[in-house]
Amino acid sequence: LMFINSTEVFDVLVIGCGGAGLRAGIEVSENNLSVKIIGKRSKHDAHTVLAAGGINASFGNLDSEDSWEQHFADTFIEGYKIGDPEAIEIMAKNAPYYVAEIDRWGGNFDKLPNGLLNQRYFGAHTYRRTCFSGDYTGQSILKTLIQKATSLNIPIDDSQYVTELLVENGQCFGAMAFNIINGNRTVYLANCIILCTGGHTRIWKKSSSRDLENNGDGFFLALNAGCELIDMEMVQFHPTGMVTPEDKVGTLVTEAVRGEGGILLNQDGERFMINYDKERMELSTRDKVASAIYSEILNGRGFKNGGVLLDITHKNKDFILSKLPKIYNQFLEYQKIDISIEPMEVAPTAHYSMGGILVNAFDHSTKIKGLFAAGEVVGGLHGANRLGGNSLAEILVFGAIAGKNAVKYSNNHNGKKISNKIINIAHQNINKLIKKGDDKASKIEKKLRDIMWAFCGVVKNEQYLKQGLSDIEKLKKRVKNIDCELKDENFIQLANIFNLRASLTAAEATIISALSRKESRGSHNRSDFPSLNKNFNFNTKVKLRDSKLILNLNKFKKINNNLKDILLKTKEINNFHNKLIE
Ligand code: FUM
Repeated sequence: LMFINSTEVFDVLVIGCGGAGLRAGIEVSENNLSVKIIGKRSKHDAHTVLAAGGINASFGNLDSEDSWEQHFADTFIEGYKIGDPEAIEIMAKNAPYYVAEIDRWGGNFDKLPNGLLNQRYFGAHTYRRTCFSGDYTGQSILKTLIQKATSLNIPIDDSQYVTELLVENGQCFGAMAFNIINGNRTVYLANCIILCTGGHTRIWKKSSSRDLENNGDGFFLALNAGCELIDMEMVQFHPTGMVTPEDKVGTLVTEAVRGEGGILLNQDGERFMINYDKERMELSTRDKVASAIYSEILNGRGFKNGGVLLDITHKNKDFILSKLPKIYNQFLEYQKIDISIEPMEVAPTAHYSMGGILVNAFDHSTKIKGLFAAGEVVGGLHGANRLGGNSLAEILVFGAIAGKNAVKYSNNHNGKKISNKIINIAHQNINKLIKKGDDKASKIEKKLRDIMWAFCGVVKNEQYLKQGLSDIEKLKKRVKNIDCELKDENFIQLANIFNLRASLTAAEATIISALSRKESRGSHNRSDFPSLNKNFNFNTKVKLRDSKLILNLNKFKKINNNLKDILLKTKEINNFHNKLIE
């Protein structure tokens, strides 16, 4: 138990077996470097499988006016202008290439009669831009990436919990991990590391993530390595999550239901989106639909399980079975409801971390030499509101880009600089947690979820946020009392402590960022500052110094003239948004 059991050496190590990690690993392997992908959950069941409704690329197969420029403009403007314009440009330009590639590799996307990829509407996209396989697009992509990685003989070990990145003098040279099944410890040494570990939305009581995923551990690893996190207050609440049964609360009800014609109704039978965004209705931005549903519920116009209705019964059963098979089965299995006959009850659920590690938009490197990041763990692409379907585009585009640049870095890296002292400290840092105690990580985790839902949810204010912060302070004190003797060799217990510590830090980073943004913008809703403040031209940034989180406000990245021109030329979305473009 107390030994380092093995050391493994690769040119590049990828942490995270979801779509971004797999795509990054494939890129490295195709460039003939040695690579291993490690993760803490089954690769077949990585969070990517839950991405349902589709992936965006401006093919214009149905709406020929579409272009990468319009995709850029929609993403930037609907992110309320705080997303990184250059990262968005890269995603919009490259998405068609990577979407066509994944389909060619076996993604099996829906096709039009002319053989081109089919595209559906998703909220706030000017055109039909979202490619899909039914409503299990993430699953198709993940399966395809695993097949591709397997064909390249890339080793994948999905039983590894990474506890620490090994960093000396601002240079990352590896990672410490233990095996969740047998506890064996491995030191991974690599020229560089790509972190693809997802977000932190499992720390809310109602969440579209499952246990042991999106616990914020990537943020924790990055902070401890010396990285900064950007815009952590920007947490996306998906408008439609399941409201029952108890153990499935928050499970995603894909936006594709609305994209395929589903409507939202309150208790008065009113299609209430007319009062919030009468042009785009149910296909408004996620922040607007989520806060509309929230406000209907708050004002007593919800239903018995605390949600509103999402109704697709006006479409025939064959249509529903072909376009939304997963959702059809999900409601049949969990609620015994046939959604072609009865409407679904839905409410907002914590869905996606738009904040995350600050990276260079072009190569996805971090502040730490030899450390790259891609996917949800990265912040700044989506600004204050992510458009549905952009996260699958993000993981493929930036997984590949991070992979390419890791290869470049590794090829120019002369010899590994390894510190045994740092390795030993990381080893001891695990040992310190193995001890007798009288508290349980799972109890503290549950409390944390309640706190985040109550005080840092769809609508926040200073009083709530401060209450949340002081409650979290109390939870942090309990961590040292957690029992983890490992007598029964249940190493999940140990993983749970690491996850909990990470979750507490990610929660604190979120709250201090939310406190400092004294305005409402996109998914960041403050009842005490209900309007967007045009002069609040800042991104929030958090870093760790002497074990304390430090917050800074940084002026937005300036948008270059080319992109500014594009914004002015692309189709006007609505008056409110036009006002945001100077
Ligand atoms: O609603 C959905 O299918 C989710 C898609 C996304 O978050 O991009």
